[in-house]
This record gives sequence, structure tokens and C-alpha cells, in this order.
Amino acid sequence: MATSQPKDACDLLDDDHKAVKKLFKAYAALVELPGSKKKPTHDKKRELASKICFELTVHAQLEEEIFYPPVRKAIKDDSLMNEAEVEHEGAKILIAQIQSMNPADAMFDAKVTVLGEYVDHHVKEERTEMFPKARASKVDLVKMRDALQARRVELTADSGVPA
Ligand SMILES: [Fe+2]
Ligand SMILES: [Fe+2]
Repeated sequence: MATSQPKDACDLLDDDHKAVKKLFKAYAALVELPGSKKKPTHDKKRELASKICFELTVHAQLEEEIFYPPVRKAIKDDSLMNEAEVEHEGAKILIAQIQSMNPADAMFDAKVTVLGEYVDHHVKEERTEMFPKARASKVDLVKMRDALQARRVELTADSGVPA
């Protein structure tokens, strides 16, 4: 890929945030199509929703395994970290529901839309509170960027799901 190397772990994670936001926007555009065009969009919705769920699952696992534990130790803000982890739990419940549903289901759009709102809120807290605190700490975020990249390769290779 021609994209430049993210400068640290926070940058890498925020690139994920931006990428998934684009997917949610593409999904929202399908939801807003006039009724007559809705039915043929089911395949596209399924594809986008699967990609959203997969990307978020990998992202959450990367944060939970590699980013959150040392950051929690370093920034000494347990309530911020606890809230982030509870938000991950909430997102995972919605992701599991979406993965077991069909786009023809009346609740499918609502589940994806609410997941997007949920992720927006969570990302805002990471971007404006957690990342600045992590960058101000002694955690080596450049070394962590490399660990995140290596782990992502493993996770995406194991999945069998096209990235
Ligand atoms: Fe997160
Ligand atoms: Fe994140």
C-alpha cells in the first residue's frame, strides 16, 4: 500500500477508526436509498456489515491485547479504561447479533446504525482523552505500533475472512 507508516500506536489505531467510519457512512447511504431500491441492496449491506464487524473485532482485540494493558498501567485513569472496556463489551454484543442476522430482518439496519453511533462515541473518547494521555506517558508507542502491525497480520491471516 502507498499509505505512509503511522507514526505511533495511536496513529495506527486512529487509522482503523477512520477506515471503519467510512464503512459506516457507506452503509448509511444504502439505508437512505428510496424504498423501491432497498431490496437489491441486501447483498451490499451484508458485505459492508460483515466487513464492519470483522474490522471492529480485529481492532478491539489489538487494543485489548497490546494497547490497553500498558496504557492502563501508565496513565493511572482506571475509570477511563474501565469505560472503554465496557464499551467494547457492548459493541461485541451488537456485532454478534449482526453476524447472526440477515439484512432482510427489520432490525438489521438499526443494529448497524446503533453500532456506528456507539463506535463514534467510543472513538471520540480514545481520540480526545486516552490517546493524548498515552502519548504523554512513558509507554513506547512506536515499538507498540510495530507489535500491533505484526499481531494484525496474524489475526487477519487466521480468520479466513477477506480483509
Ligand atoms: Fe477501543
Ligand atoms: Fe479504538
